[in-house]
Amino acid sequence: MQKHWWQEAILYQVYLRSFKDTTGDGIGDLRGVVQKLDYLKDLGVDTVWVSPHYDSPMDDNGYDIRDFYKVSSDYGTLDDFKTLLREAHNRGMKIVIDLVLNHTSDEHPWFVAARDPKHPDHEVYKDFYIWQKPKYEKGKRKRPTRWRSWFGGPAWTYNDKTDEYYLHIFSEKMPDLNWRNEKMREAMKDVIRFWIQLGVDGFRVDASNHLEKNWDFPDTYPGYENFSGLPKHHEYLEELGKELFEPNDLLVLGEAGGATKEEALRYAGFDSHEFNMLIHFEHCWVDTDAENALTPGKWAKGEVDVVKLKKSLSHWHDIMQGKGWNAIYWHNHDHPRIVSHYGDDGKYWERSAKMLAIALYMLPGTPIVYYGEEIGMTNVDYERLEDFRDVEVFTEYENFRQNGASHETAMRALRDRSRDSGRSPMQWNGQKNAGFSEGTPWMPVNNNYERINVDRQKNASDSIWRIYKELLQLRREESLAFSKATFYQKNHPENFLYHVQGDEHEYFVAANFKEVSIEISLPEHVKDYSVFKTNVENSDASLFKPYEARIYRKRW
Ligand code: NOJ
Repeated sequence: MQKHWWQEAILYQVYLRSFKDTTGDGIGDLRGVVQKLDYLKDLGVDTVWVSPHYDSPMDDNGYDIRDFYKVSSDYGTLDDFKTLLREAHNRGMKIVIDLVLNHTSDEHPWFVAARDPKHPDHEVYKDFYIWQKPKYEKGKRKRPTRWRSWFGGPAWTYNDKTDEYYLHIFSEKMPDLNWRNEKMREAMKDVIRFWIQLGVDGFRVDASNHLEKNWDFPDTYPGYENFSGLPKHHEYLEELGKELFEPNDLLVLGEAGGATKEEALRYAGFDSHEFNMLIHFEHCWVDTDAENALTPGKWAKGEVDVVKLKKSLSHWHDIMQGKGWNAIYWHNHDHPRIVSHYGDDGKYWERSAKMLAIALYMLPGTPIVYYGEEIGMTNVDYERLEDFRDVEVFTEYENFRQNGASHETAMRALRDRSRDSGRSPMQWNGQKNAGFSEGTPWMPVNNNYERINVDRQKNASDSIWRIYKELLQLRREESLAFSKATFYQKNHPENFLYHVQGDEHEYFVAANFKEVSIEISLPEHVKDYSVFKTNVENSDASLFKPYEARIYRKRW
């Protein structure tokens, strides 16, 4: 089978706002990414996914786009963007950008015209968005349906100028686009063409499974099924794939949270025309506590369910094996930091961060490392609500309080589970603001930066950063992207074990996700292997210390 460049790529996600500020305004910028390309290359990264860089009022940190053709002044200029492309390409690196198709900002000229009947272009743009008449009950105006936005409030906002509600499945400043409108689709294709012509190497397609809506607008609560995974969204994606993505040999990483395994190949099978890999997040929340009614759903932290984790990783692997392509990742900017989430950010911080790296990055597929993951950055330590920034945090805080949660309980949930928990500034060194900015950072730097930072770990012989570098190198040397993994003891509540075949060697990975020691009975044939890498000194054959992980390699 023909190999594609994106199969061998090693991705790193830069959350632009928090990566590196070069101007002193406290906000990360494009020049900051340029400045750090050599750092990334040294780590072993060759493809950088840059989160939205477009002009935006920043209601949702740039996922609310005001002008698709302009770079946000927070992040620099179009020239800076071109410099980033040039500098990356000069180093043999690639740049993948976010592509936000589901919505625009309410300040985007399309919506400005759409919401105002007096606007000269009103007729052209009205139907670019999704409108419904109010309902009336006892003379009182009501929303068309009880649908909830992903950010916790209602999904409809009233627009008095047209006496209608518009749909927004995210914040009210992010009206949803109407993908049934062909003119809108064409306008969006122009946007995509613009960035391809500029030289980007791929896209991460935001919220891709939400493009189609149920136009019967049934009044269900919370109504997610009416705007998630409806069959027609595949048609829109395929149209983009055939016309724009495929002919340009791009890396196209689709975000489709909650995508089912049945759909996997439709999205990212080798015969698919949509994406070449998918982010589905199935393994990202295997630690929720269904009993918690105060901060429910993803906000309820529970024990990591190792069985669920293994099953998810192995199912997606098996479905794609030989038929499609997997991305492998622990998290992104919408999740807690992995070491705080599935590891331990206290006593076993370093050991568990290394374990998580070993457990994931020996698997086949294209890895995506989230900024700061390589040094074991932890969740934020904020004590005050004002320290948080994310639009979602504030609606949810109110919801928790209404559920009866105390301020402390609500704050704990925000620190543990909010999207802000993993968005604090990159910790480059032990100096002012962790070397992120000369000015006041847009959100506070984690107080642990003197202990957890890049400088410190690059200088240490045995650090989390080193493990990442070694693993990424090993992936290349052994072409692990193309290997086949076999999970063992899938129903065992503790043992995390898989075999993987490299170009030169066979490997066996074993990990303990618990904060206590466990006995792992290794399969018989592992006697032909010896420990190649571990995160614990003096490891003993069957006893795995808390968060211990080992890579065994077959002896010749
Ligand atoms: C998914 C993005 O990852 C998230 O950060 C954003 O809020 C929504 N899509 C809306 O664009």
